Amino acid sequence: MSQAIMKVVKQVEIAKDIYELRLKGDLVKEMGAPDQFLHIRVPGNDLLLRRPISIAEIDAENEECVIIYRTEGDGTKIISQLTEGDTLDVLGPLGNGYPIDMLKAGDNALLVGGGIGVPPLYELSKQLHAKGVNVVHCFGFKNKDEVFYEKEFSAFGKVNIATDDGSYAKKGFVTQYFDELDGFVPDAVFACGPKGLLAAASRAFDPSITYLSMEERMACGIGACYGCVCEKKNSTSASDNYRVCVDGPVFRAEEIVL
Ligand code: FAD
Ligand code: FES
Repeated sequence: MSQAIMKVVKQVEIAKDIYELRLKGDLVKEMGAPDQFLHIRVPGNDLLLRRPISIAEIDAENEECVIIYRTEGDGTKIISQLTEGDTLDVLGPLGNGYPIDMLKAGDNALLVGGGIGVPPLYELSKQLHAKGVNVVHCFGFKNKDEVFYEKEFSAFGKVNIATDDGSYAKKGFVTQYFDELDGFVPDAVFACGPKGLLAAASRAFDPSITYLSMEERMACGIGACYGCVCEKKNSTSASDNYRVCVDGPVFRAEEIVL
């Protein structure tokens, strides 16, 4: 983990209020596991806390990486105004990322994402596909305007989409696809998104092979402040619990209380 200045290569709004930001810098050499994150200092001096954003793609050859985020409050709105040549102060790569060593060519992986939980699954899907793992994606979005990266993910495997209002693909929760996998039996399930989606994935599949990416509000991002605690299953004291920034963000479903 290092603190570094990365250069903005390009920034594009790829769906309503969703931005794809390509960054360049030596720090990319340290990136490897899918779903590690960058802790980003918001340019300007007013906002003290860094903002955690997952790494959506690693392009080691060009020393570039991509983050994809939705503008929520002041921090992400300021970041969305950056253009080519601007710089960004980042800390990273942080967190453990999804494990993929246990999968081999021919195994099946199910990737489940909701809204802004979809981006970190892109680097995961890319790495699984390169290993010869069969990948199926199930993604939920609010509506048609917020759907992104369908074509990009379909290069690696089937993409099932559901929208809350039915304005694109199937109407309703993405979890409806869990019963429609046409004989595809996952050897591992990787989920990222709202807690309800993570809980549904851990109920539907064996929790010992289901990996959940947790999102908690963060301050330091490096394990010092205990601001991002997540309850460990069968923990006996508060100090026994996990810190999402250093012990996660990825946990096996059987390890945590949602
Ligand atoms: P504000 O609401 O003004 O933020 C105020 C404070 O609350 C800030 O300190 C901010 O960091 C914190 N905060 C607000 N919402 C969240 C949140 N959901 N999680 C953590 N802290 C929050 N969003 C994306 O769009 N794409 C991603 O790839 C992504 N990856 C993430 C990975 C991790 C490990 C975590 C913990 C969060 C991730 N988020 C992601 C959520 C993102 O961090 C927040 O949307 C962002 O910090 C909001 O900042 P803001 O200043 O725009 O909003
Ligand atoms: Fe400080 Fe995780 S954000 S311990």
